[in-house]
Amino acid sequence: MSEIRRILLVGFMGSGKSTVGPLVAEGLSWRFEDFDERIEREEGRSIRRIFAEDGEAHFRELEDRVARSLLEEPEVVLGSGGGWAAVPGRLRALSPATLSVWLRVSPEVALARAGSAGDRPLLAGRDPLGEARRLLAKRSSAYAEARAEVDTDRRSPIDVSGAILALVERHRSNSTVGS
Ligand code: S3P
Repeated sequence: MSEIRRILLVGFMGSGKSTVGPLVAEGLSWRFEDFDERIEREEGRSIRRIFAEDGEAHFRELEDRVARSLLEEPEVVLGSGGGWAAVPGRLRALSPATLSVWLRVSPEVALARAGSAGDRPLLAGRDPLGEARRLLAKRSSAYAEARAEVDTDRRSPIDVSGAILALVERHRSNSTVGS
């Protein structure tokens, strides 16, 4: 089993990637990087503006470029945007040094956590719950390509991060057995 050099959190909007990620990073003394934040910093404008001004397809190109670069960095916990890992085959193609973890969330809890839909253009329509259900159903099989999954609905961020740190610990002790 190869050594884990980075952790990639995937899952739907509101699954807790950017809340849990920094806690996991702290536990490992690694850095946390969020795809959306990196895009906003590089572009000097918000995700909402990128969608409004240039459309989703352009956002997806920026997202892919940022993901490729972050997925080469060591000792980092990455919070992906909810759409990046929704492309079938993407998670399966990652290097064994990347531990991908799917943070599972129901559409109802996702929406309660995602708060004002203003920051999430895909949920800003007339029927956010219907849209969350539709998107999640469509994306789940791609998210399920992650190497591990953790339920988040009734769990605190500390609890979820503890579960992820335990996964890493287990992986590390398995890789030292017999080596
Ligand atoms: C998106 C999720 C958002 C952001 C963009 C599109 C998606 O990120 O990248 O609004 O397609 O699910 P979060 O999952 O961090 O909210």
